Amino acid sequence: FQRRFLLPNRRDLLKGGAALLACSRLPNGAIASEGEPLTIEAREGTAELWEEGGPKADIWGYEGRVPGPVIWIPQGETLPLRFVNRLKQPSTIHWHGIRLDNAYDGVAGLTQEAVEPGESFDYQVKAPDAGTYWYHPHNRSWEQLARGLYGVLIVQEAGAKAYDRELLFVFDDWRLNEERQIDEASFGNLHDWSHAGRLGNVLTTNGLPYFKERARPGERLRVRVVNTANARVLSFRFSKLRPRVIALDGQPVAPYELADDTLLIAPSQRADLIVDVPHEGGVFKVDEVSGAPFAAGEIAAGGPVMQRETPLPEDIALPANPLNRFLSLGDALSADLLMQGGAMGGLSQATLHGETKDLRSLAQEGKVWAFNGIVGSHHDPALFSVARGRTVRMPMMNDTSFPHAMHIHGHHFTVLSRNGAKPTREVWHDTVLMEPGEKVEIAFVADNPGKWMIHCHMLEHQAAGMTAWFEVA
Ligand code: C2O
Ligand code: CU
Repeated sequence: FQRRFLLPNRRDLLKGGAALLACSRLPNGAIASEGEPLTIEAREGTAELWEEGGPKADIWGYEGRVPGPVIWIPQGETLPLRFVNRLKQPSTIHWHGIRLDNAYDGVAGLTQEAVEPGESFDYQVKAPDAGTYWYHPHNRSWEQLARGLYGVLIVQEAGAKAYDRELLFVFDDWRLNEERQIDEASFGNLHDWSHAGRLGNVLTTNGLPYFKERARPGERLRVRVVNTANARVLSFRFSKLRPRVIALDGQPVAPYELADDTLLIAPSQRADLIVDVPHEGGVFKVDEVSGAPFAAGEIAAGGPVMQRETPLPEDIALPANPLNRFLSLGDALSADLLMQGGAMGGLSQATLHGETKDLRSLAQEGKVWAFNGIVGSHHDPALFSVARGRTVRMPMMNDTSFPHAMHIHGHHFTVLSRNGAKPTREVWHDTVLMEPGEKVEIAFVADNPGKWMIHCHMLEHQAAGMTAWFEVA
């Protein structure tokens, strides 16, 4: 087929066509071609993580940048994409939250072989659902994401927009050493792996330590937020901006206002917000408040109040995606998931590669977590196998002393209950945060054939055993 991949200007974006795009301060991928797949290279690069204009940290990035280029696909289209690995380590690309064909899910050892240095792999990125998604490696994720390999994928819905402009905030926390380089010495640190994961000491937005955005008084913004941190649950206060949530993990929700102007967002989750910049203008700070408040950046609004030729649509709700939300709970397959292990977890033994071992010998192999008594790997049998189209319900129990961000590939799920209580609103997640001791029952229609992962998106937990897969046949 004939399709132009354009470096878009606004008009091109409106016309359509998959593209890499410059959004806000994000770097542009200088790629344009016709009839050829879009190419994305993973390679080494540098970034000013510590201070804008300051010391350059060595990173690994898509197109050598962090974040990698924004990939933009009109809803319903399929983007042919060639991944070229210029790193010294095998890698893949996983399309997080995208309900694509299993062969392109990018899980090394499960859906494909890892792409060796110098090699490439052709993906077909099908985009049935509009929304905010992202892409990252699924091989040694705990190292490769911590070094900067990730980018955002936006699937654009058709139709009139109920906002003037979009902003994209890709948040990450980095662990830098005294040389302001990525702290390599602590990769694989068993303390991190058995506790809360690799937590950073520097927060960046779109690869910079402090963001400054400009806006017009009265302007209506759609703000896309992505948490790409390895393990840190982030919490942002958008003071005085009264954000309203219109989508979570890509999927539309009935719009609602955030309590305390604060957005809690676990690793790998996304949120789409509508922000009406106050008419009086001013400088609006965005702080990260999960610990002591930390300045993430600011939106400065000055000048005359926004005037529009045609008023924006009243309704800010996004159109529904073609996701199967019709659960058939009566004849669902039920699969329990007991999350175990970690420091202060009380797990005494678990099975690794079919062999039961005590915690101490597991720890020597860097394994400290388990699902249902099994330290997960791709070599284990499937957690369950389900006929295509059947509803799956999974009561998940967090029997550990840490929060976990539970993620499922190839499907979006809804929460039936949390600690026995029905949630107040309907949300379709690809990742749900579970606090210690919490019990969350999820359900989804298993309508995408193939082998799909379920794992904790705190990447050290995943690597240390919090992983499994299921099959839709
Ligand atoms: Cu964001 Cu299994 O991945
Ligand atoms: Cu976890």
